[in-house]
Amino acid sequence: QDTLGAAASQTGRYFGAAVAAHKLSEPAYVSILDREFNMVTAENEMKMDATEPNQGQFTFGNADRIVNHALSRGMRVRGHTLAWHSQQPGWMQGMEGPGLRQAMLNHVTQVAAHFRGRIHSWDVVNEAFEDGGSGARRNSNLQRTGNDWIEAAFRAARAADPGAKLCYNDYNIDDWSHAKTQAVYRMVQDFRSRGVPIDCVGLQSHFFGVNVPANYQTTISSFAALGVEVQITELDVGGSGWQQADNYRRVTQACLNVPRCTGITVWGIRDSDSWRASQTPLLFDGQGNKKEAYYSVLNTL
Ligand code: XIL
Repeated sequence: QDTLGAAASQTGRYFGAAVAAHKLSEPAYVSILDREFNMVTAENEMKMDATEPNQGQFTFGNADRIVNHALSRGMRVRGHTLAWHSQQPGWMQGMEGPGLRQAMLNHVTQVAAHFRGRIHSWDVVNEAFEDGGSGARRNSNLQRTGNDWIEAAFRAARAADPGAKLCYNDYNIDDWSHAKTQAVYRMVQDFRSRGVPIDCVGLQSHFFGVNVPANYQTTISSFAALGVEVQITELDVGGSGWQQADNYRRVTQACLNVPRCTGITVWGIRDSDSWRASQTPLLFDGQGNKKEAYYSVLNTL
């Protein structure tokens, strides 16, 4: 196979990219997207600030452009994200307590309902755990509405779009020995044992200034053993040349080695599209040429 999507399909997996709506009018960008990828994530266009800029007023223009582009070309779509402490609209940032809880649940319901039937997997909740050794929930206005806010969001998402897989998504949960990874694991285990609707865990897998941990496959297989899918949702690896290519190879191989690891998404197409462009973390250079890392992934799939 000579594209990422086709190569991933050979084992029933997908290969995706984060996409920005304003770049869909750029032919060079779209030609790589349409040739190589069979899953798409909106880089910003489905976030809370983009979809509900004023309370109760929903705007889906840019998100719909991305979804329509993808579905009309046979690609699938990951929804990102329904509830997050970051990129909240201004009106929500200052809210607390029961009013915020209600607003968050309404947001989850309305957005999931708008896209109902068109989303492969939703990142229902993003980045709800603290970094460092505490294993605690991240302090946020959403967390302060009560520790059960995450399961409430998942139940609302399931009711609004029963066909979408529902994921918890986070960064720095790649290393199995980290307290944050263990804390997320225990939450997923608890949700599965109590019947809270969760189908998948998203490992963002942003690797900057660190190599892929040696126990990365253990992390994937451990989550998978809880009965959930694992998806690599926002992969990028800072660096260049063989070292970058080797890290990409290790991520790809770890996913392939675990049957319930169902797909990989890179967080942008060309280095120049990256949220951390100076670290050249993607598979295509700024001119759209395939990098060593690209061939490393393609040859591993
Ligand atoms: C980033 C986008 O790439 C940027 O364009 C935006 O300015 C900030 O958000 N974790 C996530 C993503 O879940 O939504 C973030 O995306 C990167 C980190």
